[in-house]
Amino acid sequence: MADYDPRLVQLYDSDNPDGADSDFFRSLADDLDARKVVDLGCGTGLLTVTFSTAGRDVVGIDPSPAMLGAARARRGAENVSWVLGDSRDIGDAQADLVVMSGNVAQHITGKAWHQALRDIRNGLLPGGTLAFERRNPLARAWEQWTRENTYGTRNTAIGELVEWYEVTSVDRRGDVSFTSHNLLTASGGEKPEAITEHLTLSFLGREEVSADLEASGFHLTGIWSGWHREPMEAESPLMVFEARRQ
Ligand SMILES: C[S@@+](CC[C@H](N)C(=O)[O-])C[C@H]1O[C@@H](n2cnc3c(N)ncnc32)[C@H](O)[C@@H]1O
Repeated sequence: MADYDPRLVQLYDSDNPDGADSDFFRSLADDLDARKVVDLGCGTGLLTVTFSTAGRDVVGIDPSPAMLGAARARRGAENVSWVLGDSRDIGDAQADLVVMSGNVAQHITGKAWHQALRDIRNGLLPGGTLAFERRNPLARAWEQWTRENTYGTRNTAIGELVEWYEVTSVDRRGDVSFTSHNLLTASGGEKPEAITEHLTLSFLGREEVSADLEASGFHLTGIWSGWHREPMEAESPLMVFEARRQ
């Protein structure tokens, strides 16, 4: 996709504040006593900078210049190595932990997903951990992403925003494409400016993701339905995966 609009990136952190998901990834890093953490698809770096502790290297990788620009500008950014790129840039990181938070794994579609798993495996130390979440396709979240369900107006740091989602296609592989419509009310009563973003998210089921992990050299150590390691049920909306490099 084209890059995110920097004005909408400004709203990202307040729309997606630090919460139980970040606590999960931070605790995992601490429990593993991780000396090196790679945050793939780090976005604005809200979580990334919080991995930083004495004696730990932290790397944040993201392909979006707008997202990474926000990450580089945040407090604590100097404690992180930022990389504009994708999984191929993990290289031989020798990391103890790679995380993909905020459903990043769903942004990596088609063959790139398999490539990413190989790249992550190669960037982890033997026994190193990969953790990420995905939405469960059996919960069919995209069916709620209609104009009717998502239409709203709110006052934001960048002005009054009218926004809604619209799904444009759902293919047999589980790729869901949708449009994020944003109308930004201009100051001075001029016509609102439209900011339209097109995104595709891959919805893969529990079995498929588990098989992909095993085929890429991981041993699956857990799948949970929530950030406190709640057990999975067939249609749990969230799937949290943890796997070890074999
Ligand atoms: C919803 S944001 C999540 C950001 C951050 N991890 C968080 O928890 O807030 C999704 C991020 O995935 C990134 N992304 C998209 N395609 C990617 C890819 N192929 N590899 C890595 N990151 C990707 C986007 O640029 C975006 O920053």
